[in-house]
Amino acid sequence: MSTNTVDKPRKVTTATLRKMKEAGEKIAMLTAYDYSMARLVDGAGMDVILVGDSATNVMAGNATTLPMTLDEMIYHARCVTRGTERALVVADMPFGTYQGDANAALHNAVRLMKESGCEALKLEGGVEIADSLKMLLSAGIPVMGHLGLTPQSVNKFGGYGIRAKEEAEAAKLLNDAKMLEQLGCFALVLEKIPAALAARVAQSVSIPVIGIGAGSGVDGQVLVVNDMLGMNDGFRPKFLRRYADLSTVINDALAHYITDVKDVTFPSPEESY
Ligand code: KIV
Repeated sequence: MSTNTVDKPRKVTTATLRKMKEAGEKIAMLTAYDYSMARLVDGAGMDVILVGDSATNVMAGNATTLPMTLDEMIYHARCVTRGTERALVVADMPFGTYQGDANAALHNAVRLMKESGCEALKLEGGVEIADSLKMLLSAGIPVMGHLGLTPQSVNKFGGYGIRAKEEAEAAKLLNDAKMLEQLGCFALVLEKIPAALAARVAQSVSIPVIGIGAGSGVDGQVLVVNDMLGMNDGFRPKFLRRYADLSTVINDALAHYITDVKDVTFPSPEESY
């Protein structure tokens, strides 16, 4: 059953997302990394497609998101924008392309937007990256923040455990969220933090807050598409709901194909010229 309350234009924009928060309509966001999946995700009616740097895990088999390059992100984002008509397409700025040097951040952000056609960028971090955020925002680039478990900092955290359980880290996260709002970010992702803290953040800022492992008291949810479709059997964190078991479907299809080729039941006369 559709629960749409906001009359959405043909194309979802940052303004649409803000209206959805105001109307209490939850935002559905999902990753995609290629044209074919983007067409399916967009066609299903997703509000936001994230070209996450999780692409380097899912598509390239890297253990962390750190190896992702700007050129690789441009490639994936371009494939996704070609397959998307309605959803807002947000691309992650890869590790090392925006931290420490605001001028370099702007240069890289402009390249990513110009060469991929994406409509907004996501950057991980709070006050530490304020100069880069200001630079991008002053250039008119829509920026989505990302706080809590920020995977590009996995080596600093020492793993992918839940963040902001302690009072000091929770207080910093709340301050960072308010700062992102004040600077002009249009939305914010909160990853793997206590649900009560995430709900408090969502109530404290006027911009949409999208959660992953952050409970239901936020303004929307995001998942990695390959994980929620059950294409990665080895990854089953508590927050992940699997909406399909594509590993089994694909494995069965592949085994069937091998059998048909060996038995010469494929191709049939009808499948031959
Ligand atoms: O890269 C990614 O897929 C992300 C989501 C997990 C939010 O940043």
